[in-house]
Amino acid sequence: MKGKTLPAIPAIYGGEIQLIIALRTDKMEIMIGRKLVVIMVGLPARRKTFLSLRLQRYLEWQGFRARIFNVGAYRREALGLGSSRSGFFNPRVKTFAKEREAIAKRCFGDLAGWLRENGDIVIYDATNVTSARRGYLKDECVKNGFDHIFVENICDDPEVLGNIVDSKINTSADYREEDPVIAREDFRRRIEHYRSVYETVDEGSPYIKIFNFGEKLEKNFGPSSLLEEIAEFLGNINLTEKNIFITRHGETLFNIEDRIGGDSALTAKGVDYARRLNDFFKGTDLVVFTSGKRRTIETALYFDCEKAVLPELNEIDSGVCDGMTYAEIASKHPEIDRGRSADKFDFRYPRGESYRDLVQRVKKAVVKIESRRKDVLVIAHRAVNRCLLSYFIPTPLKDIPYIDMPLDRVIRIYRKKALYGHESLEV
Ligand code: SIN
Repeated sequence: MKGKTLPAIPAIYGGEIQLIIALRTDKMEIMIGRKLVVIMVGLPARRKTFLSLRLQRYLEWQGFRARIFNVGAYRREALGLGSSRSGFFNPRVKTFAKEREAIAKRCFGDLAGWLRENGDIVIYDATNVTSARRGYLKDECVKNGFDHIFVENICDDPEVLGNIVDSKINTSADYREEDPVIAREDFRRRIEHYRSVYETVDEGSPYIKIFNFGEKLEKNFGPSSLLEEIAEFLGNINLTEKNIFITRHGETLFNIEDRIGGDSALTAKGVDYARRLNDFFKGTDLVVFTSGKRRTIETALYFDCEKAVLPELNEIDSGVCDGMTYAEIASKHPEIDRGRSADKFDFRYPRGESYRDLVQRVKKAVVKIESRRKDVLVIAHRAVNRCLLSYFIPTPLKDIPYIDMPLDRVIRIYRKKALYGHESLEV
C-alpha cells in the first residue's frame, strides 16, 4: 500500500469560515429561520465536545456560520489550570459555584454577541446539568430572540465510559500537567460532584437526548426540519475509530470519450481496477457503498462483504448536458461553460444540479457513513466524492469543485482526535 499524505487540514476557526460566509445565499436565511443555540447537557466525559465539533463541521459544510463556545476553555483562560481540580466543582462551596456561574454567563454573553452579529448557529459546550443553569440559558435565548435546543448526552455503558476517561486524562488541557493516576482519581471526583446535582432535561424544554452513542434517541421539539436533521445526525455519531475510503469507479466508455453523466459500463481497464480494488482490501472488515449507477456497482462486483446502493451518491445531475463532452458543451451551450467558469460551486446545470445542491443530497450518505462501526468504502463519482471529502476535510466551498479526484486512486480518511485527516493511496 503506497501512501501520500495530503495537505494539512485548514484551521477550523479562521479564514475558511470567512470564505463560507462569502458564499452564503438567500436560501440559507430560509433554511435557518431564526438563529439557533444548541445547548449541550451531560456529565463530564460524555464526549460533548466531540459531538459539538462533529455538529459544527456538518453545519459549516452546508454553509451555516456555526461556532462552538466552550465554558471549560473560558474557565482555564480566566482562572488557570488550578481551577481544573475537582475541588473547584464542589457544588457545596458557594464561592466556587458563584465563579463557575459567572464564567458560564460571560461565555454566553460572547456567544450572544457573535450570534447576533456574525452567526447562524452556536453550540454552547458545557455540562449544564442543573435546571437552574438551563433556565438561565433559556431566558437569555428568549430575551435575544434566539431559538434553543438542549442536546443531552447520556452514557452509562461502563466500557465506553472507561475509554472516554482514559482519553480525557491523556489529552485534556485540564490534566496536561498532572500525574495520570492522580488525574484519574481527581476526574472521578469531579464527575461525582456534577452527578450530585444532575437533573435530566424535562418535558417542558425542547430537547434531543442521545443514549450511549446511537443506542437510542429521544426527541422533544416542535416542527423543525433543521432540528430533525441535527437529531438524525447526532443520533448516528459513534466513537468507533474507523477508516473511510473514497474512490471513483473504474474507467468507463464515457471516460474515454470525455463524456459526462450517463450510465455507461466499465472498460477492460475499469474491470481490472475493480479486481485490484478488491485485492487491495482483502482481509479488511468493510461495508461498501456505491451509487445507483452501473459503473460504481460494477466496480464493487468482486467484493463479497456487505454492500449497499445509495442513490444519493449518484453523480451530479448535469441536466441538459448529460451525455455530452466538455467540447460539445462549450460549442452548443457557451453560457453554461461561462457560468461554470464564473462560479462552479453555485452554477446549476439547466434541469440539473449545482455542487451546492449536491452537498444537500450527499449529506444523507454522510449520516449513513457516520453511523457505521466498521471501515467504509465509498465507490462513487468525481463531483460526489469531492463533496464527500470536503465534509471530512474542511475545504472552502468555492474550492470543492476543484479538489483533485482522479480515477484509480483511493483516499483514506482516518479519525484524528474528534476530526479527520486523510491520505491518498495507490491501488
Ligand atoms: C468546565 O469548567 O470545565 C466546565 C464548566 C461547565 O461545564 O459548566
